[in-house]
Amino acid sequence: MPHLVLDKISIHYDGQPAPAVERVSIAVDRSDFVVLVGRSGCGKTSLLNVAAGLVAPARGTASIDGREITGPGSDRAVVFQNDALFPWLTARENVAFALRLRGVAPSERARRADRLLDLVKLGDAGDKRVWELSGGMRQRVGLARALAAEPQFLLLDEPLGALDALTRERMQTTLLDLWTASQAGVLMVTHGIEEALVLATRIVVLAPGPGRVVRSFEPGFSRRYAAGEPIRAIKADPAFAVARGDLTDAIFEGEAA
Ligand SMILES: Nc1ncnc2c1ncn2[C@@H]1O[C@H](COP(=O)(O)OP(=O)(O)O)[C@@H](O)[C@H]1O
Ligand SMILES: [Mg+2]
Repeated sequence: MPHLVLDKISIHYDGQPAPAVERVSIAVDRSDFVVLVGRSGCGKTSLLNVAAGLVAPARGTASIDGREITGPGSDRAVVFQNDALFPWLTARENVAFALRLRGVAPSERARRADRLLDLVKLGDAGDKRVWELSGGMRQRVGLARALAAEPQFLLLDEPLGALDALTRERMQTTLLDLWTASQAGVLMVTHGIEEALVLATRIVVLAPGPGRVVRSFEPGFSRRYAAGEPIRAIKADPAFAVARGDLTDAIFEGEAA
């Protein structure tokens, strides 16, 4: 089982007096949906960038299956909050472009792109230009494009952060469906407490100054969704409210009043 491991990672940016992150360990396997939460500046994006191979840790190692991560690779796909699509291309062409980069034959690309758009529930929007798409639809094209690489791991930095509340809620179940269908392990950053609870098999709570792990939860709600329980029923479960309180406390624990 492929395994993405951040082992005792410290991150120290040039010119900064103190490390941004100190001795953080996180493991993600392909059945995991791991969500990083914590106050602004606690190093969530920095850790995701280490996993992406975009930032080198000062100490510790990041690896996949024991192979050290030294740069970006096709085993990982990254989606950021405001990911740029090519505005002059259609949704299908944006996804097909990623397939072309992977060396997929031209005759295959449109068919595979349509299948990926189906997966993100955009099956009817293949011919639309990017400027004709809503924010939520654009983000789904971004996810389809990321999945075109058939990554073992999806790295998501607040992918739903720019969306309105209703779209965001709908996108949460889309993400869970993708996670199930793609069998990719997910490492995701979010500010949303409910979002973390709905999506995560494991939530890692970080605190700043320097960034470190303070708590870890295994909420189990996303596995219930994957097993067929409706998301509304899950959110209405009293256990969900309890978990929300616990997680909120963990995030704001130790914060100066
Ligand atoms: N490229 C950079 N150069 C210098 N400092 C940085 C850089 N990126 C992030 N930082 C600092 O590292 C800390 C963690 O940042 P970040 O990983 O963006 O946190 P988060 O995503 O949790 O808000 C912050 O103090 C931030 O100012
Ligand atoms: Mg961030």
